[in-house]
Amino acid sequence: MDKLLITGGRPLDGEIRVSGAKNSSLPILASTLLAETPSVIGNVPHLHDVTSLIELLGRMGVEVVIGDRMRVEINSSTIKDFTAPYELVKKMRASILVLGPLVARFGQAIVSLPGGCAIGSRPVDLHLRGLTAMGADIEVKNGYIHATTHGKRLKGCRFVFDVVTVTGTENLLMAATLAEGTTILENAAREPEIVDLAECLIAMGAQIEGAGTDKIVVRGVPALHGCVHEVIADRIETGTYLCAAAATGGRIRLRDARPDTLDAVLDKLVEAGASISTTADTIELDMKGNRPKAVSVRTAPYPAFPTDMQAQFCALNAVAEGTSTIIETVFENRFMHVLEMQRMGADFTIEGHTVVCRGVPKLSGAPVMATDLRASASLVIAALCADGDTLIDRIYHIDRGYECIEEKFLALGAQIRRVG
Ligand code: EPU
Repeated sequence: MDKLLITGGRPLDGEIRVSGAKNSSLPILASTLLAETPSVIGNVPHLHDVTSLIELLGRMGVEVVIGDRMRVEINSSTIKDFTAPYELVKKMRASILVLGPLVARFGQAIVSLPGGCAIGSRPVDLHLRGLTAMGADIEVKNGYIHATTHGKRLKGCRFVFDVVTVTGTENLLMAATLAEGTTILENAAREPEIVDLAECLIAMGAQIEGAGTDKIVVRGVPALHGCVHEVIADRIETGTYLCAAAATGGRIRLRDARPDTLDAVLDKLVEAGASISTTADTIELDMKGNRPKAVSVRTAPYPAFPTDMQAQFCALNAVAEGTSTIIETVFENRFMHVLEMQRMGADFTIEGHTVVCRGVPKLSGAPVMATDLRASASLVIAALCADGDTLIDRIYHIDRGYECIEEKFLALGAQIRRVG
């Protein structure tokens, strides 16, 4: 099993390109199931989660051609199976994103119920309740969601989410595009990935207003056509590299970024002592060799501070000057990285959903284990700030969501190597 060997102690310094967003690519690739003619999706990152979704589409009989630089051409008219099997869904929970499109266009789907997850219980009850409210008949048996519309079109409805859910909003948004009548989604997620998906759906002929606000109105149309769409920049990848540069007292320039999607993260980095300048698609951060100042954060749905950046800020606070608190409100079990960083000398105390971080001047390298995607990223940051070598095990988690991670860190002057 691959591991990452990192020798820490050097400030990062350099320039890299931001990849397309994983969490936009997944719903957008799933949305091509709605279109009657082929779609071409560009700026798709080459990641395990993306290839898992492409594998799932392929198993359903959808024609997928991966072109140069991950331009993906998808023709769903060849589909012959409407099943997302357990072995693929258990590898990647976001496979649930095929449910809405399959039910809306083909009136049927059998999708494995995603199981537990390392960061929380992550139910999909709201996806199912929303589709039921649109007229789908849903039954869960033998670990699978069986959905049918009995040959009819879904019907528009007003649906209020009890909890803000990103993939739940995406599933119902996709389903609503082909429903009969108008659907109003309230307390909808406002993440930039929802806006990106909505733009792709609009390019397919969907009628959507309000994406990016908590009320999305969709006027259903009888059919959608293929489109050409470029995926938005990955704001979490962007934030991760910024955080790594800040934690090491370094300097970084990111190209092909979308700083307008990172307000909460950039504000916290400035509070930590970084000088930041942006253009429409670049971000430069400079710590001028200084140790970061501790910053307290509280995660919440967009536009608040993202849960997907919580672990990386734990790493920054581990070496920062001062004491901070990190409060996780989105997932109930997202502090596994804290226990690993304690093994590197971090001074953390977990109290329920809060971590109290007392910054130490230096961490020390240690063998550690990645437990989920963002936890892995935080361990890389901690390792870059540590004296000596850190060996991060179970690195397959990082390949799910960070494209060319070693190449990018090497370009920033890090000492990082994949070992077998
Ligand atoms: N929830 C419910 N019922 C539902 C759906 C969600 O109670 O039917 C709860 C969850 O248990 C959680 C909260 O709602 O407490 C928010 O979860 P959400 O549904 O928004 O998460 P998700 O859609 O499964 C996406 C991202 C995650 C990211 C979260 C929160 C994708 C593919 N995944 O997950 O990304 O952490 O939103 O922003 O978009 C990652 O990239 O590392 C990652 C985990």
